[in-house]
Amino acid sequence: MTTRTSFDPQAFRAALGTFTTGVTIITTRDADGAPVGVTANSFNSVSLNPPLVLWSLAKSARSLPAFSSNPFFNVHVLAAAQEGLSGRFASQGTDKFDGIELDEGISNAPLLPQCTARFQCHTAFSYDGGDHVIYVGEVRAFDRSEQPPLVYQGGQYALAARRPREELRLASPPPPECSYTEDLLGYLLGRSHYQMLHLLRRMLSGHSLDEGSFFVLSVLCIRDKLTLEEINAFVGYTGIDATEQAMEALEARRFVARERVRREIRYVLTADGREVVLRQIALAKAQEEDLADKLGAGDVMALKLLLKRLVASTDPGLPDLWAPR
Ligand SMILES: Cc1cc2nc3c(=O)[nH]c(=O)nc-3n(C[C@H](O)[C@H](O)[C@H](O)COP(=O)(O)O)c2cc1C
Repeated sequence: MTTRTSFDPQAFRAALGTFTTGVTIITTRDADGAPVGVTANSFNSVSLNPPLVLWSLAKSARSLPAFSSNPFFNVHVLAAAQEGLSGRFASQGTDKFDGIELDEGISNAPLLPQCTARFQCHTAFSYDGGDHVIYVGEVRAFDRSEQPPLVYQGGQYALAARRPREELRLASPPPPECSYTEDLLGYLLGRSHYQMLHLLRRMLSGHSLDEGSFFVLSVLCIRDKLTLEEINAFVGYTGIDATEQAMEALEARRFVARERVRREIRYVLTADGREVVLRQIALAKAQEEDLADKLGAGDVMALKLLLKRLVASTDPGLPDLWAPR
């Protein structure tokens, strides 16, 4: 760690950025009644009794005159899904409120919908804070939802994953040398994969289908009219090799049909094949909802985000199944 006493602004900003925060949009109305709003992560709680919060606004901000003259402002703690809104209220030269249907508040300050929490405030004090003005607001009304919050860390948007105490195994004995540990990523991914696959396998056995055949049907549900070679390019990473015989078996059961396009055989999904895939998708969605109940919607979002990054960073160059054709 390097201790710095000279204030290189960039290094100072980077050091401040290590303090992880939520993201808010703070709104008011200017003297003409026009809505004004700004993205701010300087928001913080001050006092419970009386209920006070604070935030600071750059003196260079165009919205400064409005916040200085109107004592009413609303703080919106943004939800993870509101990253776009944060970007919009952090930039100048756009109509920040375009297309937003405002909720009814206790003052004339604009009240944005679909946030994680909202605090309707009246300015109690304002202080000079160097190149910022610090506003302390008395909270006159507030509400909150179950939406997971947006997080800001090191100059980037992030999602928060919680660490519930009861899920962490305390004082697990040290593993023997050269042994797997329950903290190994490969073990964790493998185990969660097989545990989640268990339900799918039960459903597939009800249809007398194996996993390989199911992967073929899933690929054809996303992309129709594929040759056997193309199907294999999409499912190959699972270790499954779709053979002519396997395709014939699926044809015999009327899950797929073949089409001759010029000299090539291309496979399409039949209505029965689509039905099987749709059932599995419904099952997967139900499983995900169940998981969201157990882990919380925010943790599921964070898990998906990390898994997508893992998929991208370990991708050996597979064809993109979802790319537009
Ligand atoms: C995540 C994030 C947090 C921000 N926090 C603050 C803040 O606390 N105070 C501030 O003055 N500007 C902050 N900004 C910058 C303002 O949102 C930005 O300068 C905005 O354009 C000001 O709008 P205005 O000039 O229309 O008033 C932040 C920007 C982002 C992206």
